[in-house]
Amino acid sequence: MSDIVRQQYEDLPYPARDPKDEARRLIEGSPSHLVELNHYLFAGARDFARPFRVLVAGGGTGDGLIMLAQHLSDRNCPAEIVYLDLSAASRAVAEQRAAVRGLRTITFMTGSLLDLPRLDLGTFDYIDCCGVLHHLKEPGAGLAALNEVLAPDGGMGIMVYGTLGRTGVYPVQAMLRTLIAQVPAPARTSAAEVQIARALLKQLPVTNWLRRNPAVGDHLAGGDAGLYDLLLHSQDRAYDVTELAALVSAAGLEIAALIEPWRYDPASYLTDADLLRRLDGLPMIERAAFAERLAGNLKRHIVYLVREGRAAAAVAKPGDRTLVPVWRGEAVGESLRGHSTLKISIDGIELRLPIPRHAADILAAIDGERSIAAIHQRVADKVPALATPDAFGPAFDAACGLFNRLNRLFLARR
Ligand SMILES: C[S@@+](CC[C@H](N)C(=O)[O-])C[C@H]1O[C@@H](n2cnc3c(N)ncnc32)[C@H](O)[C@@H]1O
Repeated sequence: MSDIVRQQYEDLPYPARDPKDEARRLIEGSPSHLVELNHYLFAGARDFARPFRVLVAGGGTGDGLIMLAQHLSDRNCPAEIVYLDLSAASRAVAEQRAAVRGLRTITFMTGSLLDLPRLDLGTFDYIDCCGVLHHLKEPGAGLAALNEVLAPDGGMGIMVYGTLGRTGVYPVQAMLRTLIAQVPAPARTSAAEVQIARALLKQLPVTNWLRRNPAVGDHLAGGDAGLYDLLLHSQDRAYDVTELAALVSAAGLEIAALIEPWRYDPASYLTDADLLRRLDGLPMIERAAFAERLAGNLKRHIVYLVREGRAAAAVAKPGDRTLVPVWRGEAVGESLRGHSTLKISIDGIELRLPIPRHAADILAAIDGERSIAAIHQRVADKVPALATPDAFGPAFDAACGLFNRLNRLFLARR
């Protein structure tokens, strides 16, 4: 079966990327953003002056690979990165992107991640496997193969499709299989399949679930490769949070974090305190499963994984006041002043999350250098109400917690 999957990615490397674009922008995302993986897998304390071994399994045209290699290079990390993919055409794009950026710490390999235990590559501190496992005949076997080459204190960032958020995708895939089965085999090229898919998309009635799904747009904006990946793939499946937790646990692994955390928190969507109280004390996965059913728009799940029993130790804790809060992207602080809510808009939902009291003062003191303790000192000078640790602590945790759940703020040891 992986021959058909390989052929698809030889014909249509996904996502489609032009290596020349590396000269003008860096694509950043999740998993595998360096400050994010440090927070969730190494308690913010990984020393990147030390060697760091990375595997990018099913690296495709290189989005995660290039981001992480660039982040590590920016820190002068003596990193060793292995890229592995079934598709030589995808690898060629990823190699050219690395060349444009002058990233020289990557070893490129063509092959299946299922063979990893036999490739004699040693173990890895971090493994990225984004959008790959759900294309395997046996995703559990893929995760087990990755686990075999994970260092005991290492971690993984993976992404798999989400069932509810992909509502409407699978009925359209089934219709396309019916239509394409009528095409004589020699004429059944990917170009012909794309043409049939585009013709059908134009005719979807307003009640069709794909047409009604605001979360899915690869068939509209992703070019031929995006449309093929979404609607014509020969092998894909989706997971709800409970199924994903079972997949992870069967491999002897544990979920350290679901990204973005706010999307997996029922409190992001519900304001009824009685309802919320009933969810208090539920295990993380049950709360996340509730939030997934509630929002209905999680089309993919991004999770950080560690060996079973390590999750609590792996995630950075704001209780450690020696840690340094670090922004991902632009700093937030003064821009919150005078506002009581923050508008969030994603995948068809629009929400207003309450901004905690004193958030503007506290967040404005975050510069990527000061520890939480130093931020307290600075804020206490300006805001007498936050002078004592008892007043500052909960205010800091609320402000930092909100932007951490939004995937904007992380903790690191300097
Ligand atoms: C949807 S793309 C994702 C690419 C990349 N990880 C990203 O997020 O942009 C899936 C990739 O997985 C690769 N792939 C599928 N099965 C694989 C396997 N068994 N071993 C290695 N790569 C595989 C495909 O060739 C394809 O490039």
